[in-house]
Amino acid sequence: MKQDHISYLLALHREQDWAAAAIACQISQAQLKKAVAEAEREYGCSLVKTGTVFRGFTTEGEKVVVWAQGLSEAISTLKHVFAVSNSRKAIAPLLDRRSVSPKRLEAPGADSQEIDLMIEAALSAPDHGGLHPWRVLVFPADSRARLADLFEQEKLRRDPLASTEDLRRAREHATRSPTLLAFIMSPKLRMRVPEREQWLAAGSALGNLLNAAHQLGFGAIMLSGERCFDVLLCAELGIESAEYLAGFISLGSITAAPPQRKPAMLDTVRAFWHSGEPSVETPAKSQVCLDSAASNAISESQVPR
Ligand SMILES: Cc1cc2nc3c(=O)[nH]c(=O)nc-3n(C[C@H](O)[C@H](O)[C@H](O)COP(=O)(O)O)c2cc1C
Repeated sequence: MKQDHISYLLALHREQDWAAAAIACQISQAQLKKAVAEAEREYGCSLVKTGTVFRGFTTEGEKVVVWAQGLSEAISTLKHVFAVSNSRKAIAPLLDRRSVSPKRLEAPGADSQEIDLMIEAALSAPDHGGLHPWRVLVFPADSRARLADLFEQEKLRRDPLASTEDLRRAREHATRSPTLLAFIMSPKLRMRVPEREQWLAAGSALGNLLNAAHQLGFGAIMLSGERCFDVLLCAELGIESAEYLAGFISLGSITAAPPQRKPAMLDTVRAFWHSGEPSVETPAKSQVCLDSAASNAISESQVPR
């Protein structure tokens, strides 16, 4: 049976009237009657009781309607499944981005055009007032040794008894990844846009930058650590007193894929508000989910030293 015929029979069953069913199907009554007659020929029996006005389905017709209802539901389910799958495909790069630890990165890193492209993506993030309350510091290859000295000095300031291994690791953070950027939160003071919105805008920009890196095929990770709070290091990097060193972004080609993200637990972050009800507290179940999300993050955790 043609798919159109199925919907015509279902409309007729729903409306119990030729004219109303024809309107619902956006065809003329004559076309509807012709289609039903075609279906009757195909089945070799009457599906609709004879008469000029609609008087119901025959026993066989009722059976066909039940079958058509099942098929129609199956088709809707399939369409929904395909639509969801297409939607996921459309945003796949956002769904499958993962941070990639510096130990899984190698050359080549991003060239200056690719870095600019990532920054352009960051600039297209939502930003109240277009203030761009952030900036990016690029560390060219010939600056890394000096940066490593600064990281080592910072480590010694924080821990004068740091071991040689600790100092090696501190230096390594400056030298290991093929590309290194610093992301600086740079709030625009005395603006009408509240500072908390500027922080959010900066976070969105950072997200866009990391997503752009992922879409360009690079692995990337943002790491902060205690050195970001070191006043002397910040001064050496030219960070103003009203600015914040949010962290360093390590970037490069991926040597080994990071573990896949655990399935998203929407319930931990999404609730439905209904008028007249207080906002719903996230249930204990969510805490379990949050705990497992945290352990997921910790498994790949990088604590800069
Ligand atoms: C501003 C900022 C600073 C971060 N600093 C650290 C850090 O110092 N150490 C760490 O293990 N993860 C840090 N992270 C988290 C990682 O960058 C990463 O997002 C986390 O490991 C989860 O991995 P995923 O991005 O694949 O979900 C930081 C993230 C942000 C946004």
